[in-house]
Amino acid sequence: MRVVHNVAELRIAVKALREEGLRIGFVPTMGFLHEGHASLIRQCKSRCGATVVSIFVNPTQFGPAEDLSSYPSDLEADQSLCLKLDVNVLFLPTAAEMYPSNFQTFIEPGQVAEPLCGKFRPGHFRGVATVVAKLFNMVQPDLAFFGQKDLQQTAVIKRMVKDLNLPVDIAVVPTLREHDGLALSSRNVYLSPDERKRALSISLGLFAAETAFKAGERNASDLLARANECLWGVDQLQYCELVDAQSLEPLVHQVDRTAAICVAAFVGSTRLIDNIILSPNAEASGLLGLGAST
Ligand code: PAF
Repeated sequence: MRVVHNVAELRIAVKALREEGLRIGFVPTMGFLHEGHASLIRQCKSRCGATVVSIFVNPTQFGPAEDLSSYPSDLEADQSLCLKLDVNVLFLPTAAEMYPSNFQTFIEPGQVAEPLCGKFRPGHFRGVATVVAKLFNMVQPDLAFFGQKDLQQTAVIKRMVKDLNLPVDIAVVPTLREHDGLALSSRNVYLSPDERKRALSISLGLFAAETAFKAGERNASDLLARANECLWGVDQLQYCELVDAQSLEPLVHQVDRTAAICVAAFVGSTRLIDNIILSPNAEASGLLGLGAST
């Protein structure tokens, strides 16, 4: 595994892989890697000849009152996991490499960034889109992998790739969960044992709605009610919404196309998000864009 810290070294390492005729897969991360990231890397390995992983805690996607300064990190563990998973190139840029002084150009995502998290984290998706566009330009991957847990992030990135004709395909990998259903997240480490128990109400709500959907329920408010009934454990619910899974526009009557129920809530001082896809006919993996091309 080559570990590189700047764009010049990265380009040399990726060029060598490309000259071997390998398809380049890319997994961008903010580190503190867990099994969810491992599953993105495994998907990447299975579909691409070479895998590039980046670790960069991107300051521009954090609001002033958010957890940038305390974001968990364990670079040593991350490096050994990447080594174990046979990653070809690990890119560890510094903040100065990503945002040199006088940096002033940003990507402004449109409508798709407005609902859900967009309402509660102003500027978040502008920061995500900007850093992902920069990383795409640096790595120049053929295929990039993102987790379904960040559903709105995947929608923003897919839209950006299409709108800006970026030559990369996007694959979305299903959310990995703990044995009891809690979605894996680097932020789970903040939860106390009591909060960890209460956090489970988020996935339980989503599973209740999914069960009703599988049993034939298509009424949007009834499905949302199923999810909400279980949300007793959270301290502050930001949203629990049923949306079109592609456009993220609210579905208010019937679920007549692939939809998602998306939740964001604070448990203690930890903000958690999760979602479930409700697909009336298509396979979820079709929607998720495994193999979708731009
Ligand atoms: O999902 C994440 O970890 C981040 O938002 C990403 C895509 C690495 C951009 O900083």
